[in-house]
Amino acid sequence: MSYLGIDIGTSGVKAFLIDRAGKPLGEASAKSVEPVRPHPGWSEQQPSDWWSATLEAVDKLSKAHPEAVAAVRGIGLSGHMHGATLLGAKDEVLRPCILWNDGRSAAECREMEAALPTLRQLAGNIAMPGFTAPKIAWVRKHEPEIFARIAKVLLPKAYVRLLLTGEHVEDMSDAAGTLWLDVGKRDWSDELLAVTGLTRAQMPRLVEGSAVSGNLKSELAARWGMRGPVVVAGGAGDNAASGCGIGAIRPGEGFVSLGTSGVLFVSNDRFRPNTEGAVHAFCHAIPNTWHQMGVILSATDSLNWLAKITGQDAAKLSGQVEAGFAGPGEEIFLPYLSGERTPHNNAGARGSFVGLSHSTDPTKLAQAVMEGVTFAFRDCQRVLNDAGSTMGRLLAVGGGSRSETWLKMIATNLDAEISLPEDGDFGGALGAARLGLCAAEGADPATVMTMPGIRKVIGPDASLRSAYNDQYARYRALYPAIEEARK
Ligand code: XUL
Repeated sequence: MSYLGIDIGTSGVKAFLIDRAGKPLGEASAKSVEPVRPHPGWSEQQPSDWWSATLEAVDKLSKAHPEAVAAVRGIGLSGHMHGATLLGAKDEVLRPCILWNDGRSAAECREMEAALPTLRQLAGNIAMPGFTAPKIAWVRKHEPEIFARIAKVLLPKAYVRLLLTGEHVEDMSDAAGTLWLDVGKRDWSDELLAVTGLTRAQMPRLVEGSAVSGNLKSELAARWGMRGPVVVAGGAGDNAASGCGIGAIRPGEGFVSLGTSGVLFVSNDRFRPNTEGAVHAFCHAIPNTWHQMGVILSATDSLNWLAKITGQDAAKLSGQVEAGFAGPGEEIFLPYLSGERTPHNNAGARGSFVGLSHSTDPTKLAQAVMEGVTFAFRDCQRVLNDAGSTMGRLLAVGGGSRSETWLKMIATNLDAEISLPEDGDFGGALGAARLGLCAAEGADPATVMTMPGIRKVIGPDASLRSAYNDQYARYRALYPAIEEARK
């Protein structure tokens, strides 16, 4: 028997195959068309692109590993969160999907919170433009003819599920990022839905991530040569799926993800909101489990931006920082190129460099960028701690974790050990495959979601801690001052 994870990312789809023991059997991927930005701060993608990329990735996998794919019994899905996929009565897509990193709906967030003063308590989260509900409030105001035709609102992976199974279903972890879920009760909230003029009838059915959501259509099973009946699990939002992939499901277990966006994730045994600190308090993908996240919108994206505008390569820049690293430099960077979620909840925030001199060069700017992202994680840790979480072992995931200097900066600033997994892939696609296994076999998630072997543990550097405490204090003072000056 084998189990297939399909991770629908913003830039592409990855298909990942495991056996009953969780051992990887093969993987394949396909690129999606990059999101378009019709206006500054907007970000949209065509749902049909996710479907073409899904077909391409699984087609490739079934060509490369026909026997293992024939034995698939369960499929799990992981997807980029929050995207508003609007469908009409015949499941036709009504407009391009407004994505997680789209900041257009700040005014609607304020209006929603004014219309329902208990919104934060009910949703356990602040209305942030990244979430789904404010995007619908924007559509209702600016595209009323489209709003009037909405029969269902799906998240990106639920749209792919619809095409795989014919069912409208969402899992709890992704549903928590809509702002329509009563996250503590794990059910849609009629009151929250009413704020955006919607009802339960327009929502998909809810299941736990490790439960069955439907069966793969027979024509797709035939296309991929899958012999037996194949169930599709609820799956998870990409961060909860990564939690399943690296085995962060018990209280205090977590990860720091240095991807395009940055995430500090910690698993909880109960619902622990902290709306003051713009903490994301969501359901995890397995029953009776929740998680918190601090989300920063530009992590490796900040370094890629610097590489682009200086005509350099991002890996080379971070290598140069590594070569000459001896603690904080003079320059400070605020990484708010796309606004910020945690802790500021400000889509209009913008990035800054401070402390430039004639000796500033691209390497020093790169160090400031890596430190600015590090301080943003330290901000996240502060507000997660305020919400009652203590972090145990943190694993590092994402492309930026290839830089050990960056991880050293983060370990020193979080005063925590950061573990680097052995070579391999422990992201959302593996987590999704594991959820597919749980759904198909009724296996206990606690025995399936194990931690990977650890290659290296990077600890805090005590000799740099006090210099970083001072630099972090300067960093924290800059945001309010700069925001005041930009008014
Ligand atoms: C989480 C979030 C991002 C997306 C990116 O709240 O917006 O991590 O899920 O894939």
